[in-house]
Amino acid sequence: MSDPLLKVENLTKHYPLGAGYLKKTIPVIRAVEDVSFTVDAGETLCIVGESGCGKSTVARLLMRLVEPTGGRVLIEGTDIAGLKKDALRAWRRRMQMVFQDPYSSLNPRLTAGQIITEPVENFERLSRKQRQALAADLLRKVGMSPEMMHRLPSELSGGQRQRLGIARALALEPSLIIADEAVSALDVSVQAQILNLLLDLQQKMGIAFVFISHDLGVVEHIAHRVAVMYLGRIVELAPSEALFAKPVHPYTEALIAAAPVPDPTRVRLEAPVEGEVPSPINPPSGCAFHPRCPLAVERCRIEVPPLVPMADGRIVACHVRAPATGMPHLARASTNSSFTPMA
Ligand SMILES: Nc1ncnc2c1ncn2[C@@H]1O[C@H](COP(=O)(O)OP(=O)(O)OP(=O)(O)O)[C@@H](O)[C@H]1O
Ligand code: SF4
Ligand SMILES: [Mg+2]
Repeated sequence: MSDPLLKVENLTKHYPLGAGYLKKTIPVIRAVEDVSFTVDAGETLCIVGESGCGKSTVARLLMRLVEPTGGRVLIEGTDIAGLKKDALRAWRRRMQMVFQDPYSSLNPRLTAGQIITEPVENFERLSRKQRQALAADLLRKVGMSPEMMHRLPSELSGGQRQRLGIARALALEPSLIIADEAVSALDVSVQAQILNLLLDLQQKMGIAFVFISHDLGVVEHIAHRVAVMYLGRIVELAPSEALFAKPVHPYTEALIAAAPVPDPTRVRLEAPVEGEVPSPINPPSGCAFHPRCPLAVERCRIEVPPLVPMADGRIVACHVRAPATGMPHLARASTNSSFTPMA
């Protein structure tokens, strides 16, 4: 069997908090903890979860904008950490990112044409004629008129700026686009246009997406599979239809239950469950969701639930809803557990 386009293995990112003067251990923010998933060519994997659960950090780790504390990112079986200069450049062509804020992610002094052809010009010299032809082609691909190439970002609407961000990402014909809240800043009708554009581009060009969003309506519309994150960890990863039809993890269930029914395209996951989101500096022991979980039992306070495969192709980390068979997966040193395994 061939390797998936993207494979993430046990990815972990801890941000140290200060120098820890006179302290033996430096406290850390556990932004991402032991995250694993795959993305196939032409697939859309959505990542959802409350603010601060680590979604953007996963995106930055995939793009190698930050170095992982642990774990690996493999592109078609090759670990990107081990890539040498030329291979790294080739890999950078294949993975592109679209950011949430089209205002701050586009250079205000460059024209639309310069912005979208810049990634190609980082790799090869283009004549004026080639540059204009490329800019016109990319603008057409994202449903904009080629005349727009002479405009500055400040002379475009929010939706047009986001299309520009997508055109720029498409310039190098990537295999994978990582979109971090790429439509969140746009109003509903423009959001729908951009999402349909992404779906259309995916069908025509076979691009895979890692799509990060707060918005369950958006996710249901575009995802093939969905990863639900809680406090740095994936707690459920499932085919989209199965997840929305029957969430298994109590946190997923709460997120979906919190979605307002009349307008499912505008769901915001600000406070989907009772209680405060715990601190990633000092996460709860065992299952990090236990202080907020209505189903919690004693074991939840002690053992980190492992991700258990279920019959319908999903994986779930929950002692009650997806009990593991065999040896229990004991709480890691990274949690506050006082549990001592029996010899
Ligand atoms: N550079 C950094 N230094 C220290 N801590 C960071 C850094 N970047 C992120 N964090 C922390 O890591 C955790 C995860 O942040 P991240 O931005 O990945 O969350 P998120 O899920 O994208 O949230 P949001 O939905 O609000 O965008 C948060 O507690 C955040 O404060
Ligand atoms: S492991 Fe326990 S606390 Fe965690 S989600 Fe399942 S029932 Fe709730
Ligand atoms: Mg974020």
